[in-house]
Amino acid sequence: MFKVVNKIEKSYDLNIGLVFDGQVEICEYISEMNKELIDKVIAKKEFVGKKGEVLKIDLLENKSLVSIALVGMGKEEDFTLDVFREVMFESLSKEKGKILISSDQELLLNHEVLGEVVFNVNYSFDTFKEKKSDKIEVELFISSEEKDISETILLGESTDIARDLVDLPANIINPITLAERVSELGKEYGFEVEILDEIEMEKIEMNLLLAVGRASITKPRLIVMRYLNGKDSAERIGLVGKGLTYDTGGLCIKPADSMFEMKSDMAGSASVIGAMCAIAKGKVQQNVVAVVAACENAINENAYRPGDIIKSMNGKTVEIINTDAEGRLALADAITYSIRKEKVTEIVDVATLTGAILIALGNLTTGVFSNSDEKYSQLEAASKLHGEKVWRMPIFEEYAELLKSTVADVKHTGGRMGGSITAAKFLEGFVEGLPWIHMDIAGTSYNSSVKWLKKGATGVGVKSLYSYVKNR
Ligand code: BES
Ligand code: MG
Ligand code: ZN
Repeated sequence: MFKVVNKIEKSYDLNIGLVFDGQVEICEYISEMNKELIDKVIAKKEFVGKKGEVLKIDLLENKSLVSIALVGMGKEEDFTLDVFREVMFESLSKEKGKILISSDQELLLNHEVLGEVVFNVNYSFDTFKEKKSDKIEVELFISSEEKDISETILLGESTDIARDLVDLPANIINPITLAERVSELGKEYGFEVEILDEIEMEKIEMNLLLAVGRASITKPRLIVMRYLNGKDSAERIGLVGKGLTYDTGGLCIKPADSMFEMKSDMAGSASVIGAMCAIAKGKVQQNVVAVVAACENAINENAYRPGDIIKSMNGKTVEIINTDAEGRLALADAITYSIRKEKVTEIVDVATLTGAILIALGNLTTGVFSNSDEKYSQLEAASKLHGEKVWRMPIFEEYAELLKSTVADVKHTGGRMGGSITAAKFLEGFVEGLPWIHMDIAGTSYNSSVKWLKKGATGVGVKSLYSYVKNR
């Protein structure tokens, strides 16, 4: 569905020419014959190439119809890759069929970003619809040299894997079926998968994770993915994903409107799973172990309660305040497991952890917390490559005060104020001093407002994690 070509042989449903404001020049090959005529139409329509401006022209050439669209990218001096993403998403979303894209401007021939946009436009969750949505086929014309787009395609596919997992509802994806799906992906993409069931988790006292999942008919699973291709590197990167296949809130039940989207509460695990697919198939030379805490926060007479005191795998006792703050509990044990059993040397956790991060940063930006300036800047650089926006949030020691308990070692929520920060602070208490990054993707994993993304699952994090692991 996306290709880079350096020769043109076929006919297309549409030829798109990308131009900067005030520099309207069309590639000759689009229509050599009718160049003068096109220039007249441009002049008459007063098309100048403002950001998002589109001029469509249909012509007869050698007795066949040629459709041309000139798409304005705004002023060259204002150009950024985000402008490119936005304009391309908007214009390609309206098109059908086979499309050729070209430009006289080298800057506008960015095959990585264009490939990303084509995947975005073509993604739709139509598994359960009789009528499937149309897909566009896009070819980018670059005459000068051959381009290797295999990484762009791999990242597009891996992101789609994550999006599908998030969009699939909780009557289909539960801890057990999620684990089965990961086993299949491991075989297909080339990483090892081990699944721990609730009995094995009991033996190693993963009591926080077990408590969260205890009221569900489908019991928790710990999904461990290993890809050890770091040769003699002593580093072992630990990825940890929140895998709440559904979050009712538990006994502290969510109101209906907030519960509706909670099939997406395993988006952190989807990012980690998608990233493992890309890392393994891309044969990245690093050691990576990903751990997904898969469980469902449901309600029955066996549900965990506010006021309960639970001993975590790491030995700390935790006073349960609000059963809707379940993610940090499941993650805490998964982090301890990664450190104690998998011997990871650093941790990146990804989670739809707090509604508060949505209030702070909206759908556009992932809130990132870290105890390491160096690791944070590596993640920031990796995210930038893929247009995934991140912003660093504080974890000053004073916030830990809010988690003090009078009856246990720690309580697991710190009130409404600074809710994303106290959640991060709780997690930090389990990282045993290792370099650690926490990505709160509650806002960015499920889109309703960013213009250049489809509504619904975004697959955020897959590409950033891949590049973070690869580019160290
Ligand atoms: N899964 C939610 C966070 C969330 C909210 C994700 C909105 C996506 C969209 C999480 O488990 C949760 O319920 N957090 C509570 C914590 C509170 C009880 C301390 C929240 O954010 O309200
Ligand atoms: Mg919750
Ligand atoms: Zn949750």
